[in-house]
Formats: sequence, structure tokens, C-alpha cells
Amino acid sequence: MNAAPPRTPPLTSRLPKVGTTIFTVMSALATEHRAVNLGQGFPDFDCDPKLVEAVAGAMREGLNQYPPMAGVPALREAVSTKIEALYGHRYDPGSEVTITAGATQAILSAILAVVHPGDEVIVLDPCYDSYDPNIELAGAVAVHVPLTPGTFAPDFDRIAASLSPRTRAIIVNTPHNPSATVWTAADMERLAALLRPTDVVVISDEVYEHMVFDGAAHQSAARFPELAARSVVVSSFGKTYHVTGWKIGYAAAPAALTAEFRKVHQFNVFTVNTPMQHGLARYMAEASHHLELPAFYQRKRDLFRAGLAATRLVALPSRGSFFQCVDYSAVSDLREEDFCRWLTVEKGVAAIPLSVFYADGFDQRIARFCFAKKDETLALALDRLAQL
Ligand SMILES: Cc1ncc(COP(=O)(O)O)c(C=O)c1O
Repeated sequence: MNAAPPRTPPLTSRLPKVGTTIFTVMSALATEHRAVNLGQGFPDFDCDPKLVEAVAGAMREGLNQYPPMAGVPALREAVSTKIEALYGHRYDPGSEVTITAGATQAILSAILAVVHPGDEVIVLDPCYDSYDPNIELAGAVAVHVPLTPGTFAPDFDRIAASLSPRTRAIIVNTPHNPSATVWTAADMERLAALLRPTDVVVISDEVYEHMVFDGAAHQSAARFPELAARSVVVSSFGKTYHVTGWKIGYAAAPAALTAEFRKVHQFNVFTVNTPMQHGLARYMAEASHHLELPAFYQRKRDLFRAGLAATRLVALPSRGSFFQCVDYSAVSDLREEDFCRWLTVEKGVAAIPLSVFYADGFDQRIARFCFAKKDETLALALDRLAQL
């Protein structure tokens, strides 16, 4: 008999730098201190009951078994129709649209499909927190290029200087989390021109595509034929239809890119839950459900900004997404993480420090709030912020 106690083998971490995310930390702190949670990016209101009914209907009809690997055809068709109507580019639902387990899985699958060990991927800081570990899992190197401090506009000279023969992909995100800026058509055209002599693939994270304000149009990579030919366009039904917990999204890309994407997708999740797909396909038949979103969120943004004007926080522009960044330097000279902890614990409003979105922790005395909240939640937070 072996007397040695059972033992879990020690591991060499694939992601040694990854710990608990700031979103988890701040949400836990918010709950503990009964703070209004404007930290993590999700709505505190429910989705349209019609969407729930559409999904429940699909379940009752027995649509509960594996769907095709790439997704339910009706949903791929609905995605293709929507993209064509909005951005003028037709993706073939059969060979160019894949339904994914949220944008997060789409981005990971795109990276694993495109990037080889030793390749470089350009990411623009500040950026969403999954990009870096995804690139690391692919054995590739993330090359961090800052957006212009102050405006968060893309700095094409720096991007150009970061291109190398090993650059395989660039991740672009508009509307942008966390800065709430949006890329202009001229930005997209500069990107297209810059990449023209290269074989660099664009992973275009467009999860906030339906939250662009003040009459501006979302500049999807799909609008620009040269970019569309080299892009995986990623979006999230979770963000668009107020169902972040459903973790469902899609990737649209030219057939050759999609073929490689699906090889990874197939052996990653294989496919995504059936009734949600049918429900979403039925719900999307009514285009007003996404067309009304800019006005819906612009009203919340305006409400929140009007309240902020009565505080000592300085609101930066918010042109898209459901985020609002503030410069708090008139209130405190704490570093961003310390400020956000203090704001949560002592003042009862949770926010996210911008520095966590930078590889080098760049600290600008800026915090990010999410305004995808009920009006009364925003009002309560504003009452507290007015005391600062
Ligand atoms: C920029 C960005 N990309 C991707 C995601 C993930 O989307 P999903 O919940 O569909 O995975 C988020 C969610 O916060 C995000 O902000």
C-alpha cells in the first residue's frame, strides 16, 4: 500500500500574470459596502420580456438539442441581414457568420485561429482585459501601443512604428471600452491604408456597435471593403439586448478566415445554446430592437452627465458604449485603484480605475463609470457623487 497522501501535481501556469480581475474585486467590494455598483459593465435592468418569451417559446417547441456547429441558420441569416442593412457588406450566413459564446469566446477563437507562437499582436491601450491573456495563450506576444493620452484617438504613427514582419493581427475596439470614444471613418481609412502592404488580420471588437451617440454612425470594419477582407468582426447580443449573462455573440469574417475560425470554435465550444439562438433570431426580425438602442443609451448618458456637472468630477466625452470616464483630480490625488476603492468603501459608489486597462498601469486620475443602469440607480449614485 502506498502511504503517501493524494497529491495534486504542481503546475507551471499558462497565465502566470493573471489574478482576480478588478471587476470581480470591485463588485465584491460594492456588495460588501452596499455601494451603488457603476463598476462592471452590465445593466441592472431586465431585457425586453418579448425576448424572454421568444426563448421560452423555442424551449417549449422542443428546440433544445445541439444546433449546427456554426449556429442556428435563422440567426446567422438575421446577423447577415442586419450587417448588410447597417454597413452595406453582405456576409454569407453559411460560410461567413459564426454564433459564439459571447464576444469573449469569439475573440479568443479568432486569436487562436490566426496567431502562431512567436507572432506579434498589436493591442491599443487602454484595452479590454481578455486580449492580453488570449494572446499569451496563443504563445504570441502582445505589442501594446497607447491611444493618444487626453483624447484616446488612435496614434497611427505609433501603430505604424509597431508593425513588424512578425505582426499577425491588430485588435481594434470601437466604440471603445473604457474610454467611450469612437473611431471616425477617417480613422478606419487610415487603418486600411496602413495595413494595405501587410498580411495583418484585424480583430474588430464591435460589441458596443449599437451605442453610438449624437447622430454619429458606427464605423464597422465591415463598411470598408479592404478592412472587411482582412477582419473578424465581433459583436455581442449580450450588450445589445441587455442579456450579458446569456454569453452569446457572433463573428463575421470572409470565408477563408471563417473556415480557420470554425476549426478552433468547433473544438472549443462546438456550438452555442439552441433556444437562445432561436429566440434571438425571432427577436431580431424587428430591427427597431437594435435601432432604438442609441437613443435609449444616449438619454441615460445625458442624464448621468447632467448630474455629474453638479459634482467636482470632470466628465470626459462619451461618444459611444455605455461608459463615462471622469477626471477626479479636483477631488483627490490618490492613485486610480486607491481612489476607486475609497469611492466604493467610503462614498458608496463603485467605479473602475482606468489604469487596469493599461499594460503598464498608466495612471491619469481617471475612473470609469457604467451608466447602463436604472434612472434611480444613476440618481442615487449622483447624490453620493455630489457630496465629494
Ligand atoms: C470591449 C469588450 N469586448 C468584449 C466584451 C465581452 O463581451 P461578451 O460578454 O459578449 O463576451 C466586453 C464586455 O465587457 C467588452 O467590453
